[in-house]
Amino acid sequence: MRVIKAKDYADMSKKAADIMAAQVLMKPECVLGLATGSTPIGLYQNLVERYQAGELDFSAVRTVNLDEYKGLPKENDQSYYYFMNDNLFSKVNIDPKNTNLPDGMEPDSNKACEDYNKIIDSMGGVDIQLLGLGHNGHIGFNEPGDSFVPDVHCVDLTQTTIEANKRFFASIDEVPKQAYTMGIRNIMFAKKILVVVSGKDKAPILKEVINGPITPKVQASVLQLHPDVTIVADEDALSMM
Ligand code: F6R
Repeated sequence: MRVIKAKDYADMSKKAADIMAAQVLMKPECVLGLATGSTPIGLYQNLVERYQAGELDFSAVRTVNLDEYKGLPKENDQSYYYFMNDNLFSKVNIDPKNTNLPDGMEPDSNKACEDYNKIIDSMGGVDIQLLGLGHNGHIGFNEPGDSFVPDVHCVDLTQTTIEANKRFFASIDEVPKQAYTMGIRNIMFAKKILVVVSGKDKAPILKEVINGPITPKVQASVLQLHPDVTIVADEDALSMM
């Protein structure tokens, strides 16, 4: 694992954007694996600025996202589709037909997962997969457990996650209880992996991910087995190393 130390969140975003931009420049028809969450927002802003400056062209880029809530329509501002559209897709010249997320409105979980697995496998390999890191070591919605789930699957959100999300909805009944996520095989098959991590609150888990044992209790620890992982983390996130 290559670890790149950034000064702060802005520097992390810039350094990570350098890597994503290099991928698009080297291979304009590349497949980008994308993530949502608060950590990559600055990175996406950087990419948008480079596009506006005429430095990047997304017209041939294809994307696959890690995950999506089950039961939220695209128009819901809490859906990951909405997030991606808001932060990146609507601001660059990417063809919407080339962007992919699990279909959150497919009620049949088996079908939704099978369909998304097929989409990922049909893309001929993700060139670079972007990941954020959960406080419990999750990547995508692969939560701590007794095994690594290989393929796209439907997860039950923990009560803590449902409680934490309720502030974004009119009532707790509207909070999604499940999500569709790429599995560990899908993630590990990417040619390159880029992990962005920021903040003191992520320092203990980042230390585990880099130096701890490889265990499904810390799902991101499996990244130690991938041949090409770059972690771009700020000083706060690396403060326990
Ligand atoms: C997002 C995702 C999650 C986040 C993780 C970190 O698509 O799959 O695993 O990357 O929860 O989230 P933030 O960046 O908000 O700390």
